[in-house]
Amino acid sequence: MLWIFRYFLVCVSFTSLVTAGDQCRIEINIRGMALKGFVFKRMTVAAPHICDFLCEREITCQSYNFNRKEQICELNNRTKDARPENFRSDPAWFYIRRLSGRAPLGSIPELPARSCQEIKANEGKDTASNKYWLDPSGTGKEFWFTVICIWKVNL
Ligand SMILES: *[C@@H]1O[C@H](CO)[C@@H](O)[C@H](O)[C@H]1NC(C)=O
Repeated sequence: MLWIFRYFLVCVSFTSLVTAGDQCRIEINIRGMALKGFVFKRMTVAAPHICDFLCEREITCQSYNFNRKEQICELNNRTKDARPENFRSDPAWFYIRRLSGRAPLGSIPELPARSCQEIKANEGKDTASNKYWLDPSGTGKEFWFTVICIWKVNL
């Protein structure tokens, strides 16, 4: 019963979002925070939506930091969920996870994960057991390999 109620709530909010904005994307802008240490591209842009556009053009982009004062766009190859310890308070910035067209961590050789646990953290608890690209040492291409990450299904 609780499950049905929750499903209903999700549907209602989803429908109102679709009719309101004519799109299904939900982006949660987290003010005063930035993900440190996973920036693979950094540039000055004219407006925040350009940062969004630049992130969507990069296959490895998982999230971005935006500096509102200096209009700096930083593209990250991780989300805060994968690296909560690197998610730091910084008043000049905001953080957004990419939701549209994002490649799941470890799903492509360009974006290997450090571990199966990191994939789980990045993708959420419903992540399917599958073959993934891993680079456990974080040193680069020559050590990449694919593994089968198997997670226990919680029923
Ligand atoms: C992610 O970005 C960091 C920081 O620039 C870099 O050292 C690392 O190699 C990148 N990892 C991947 C998988 O692109």
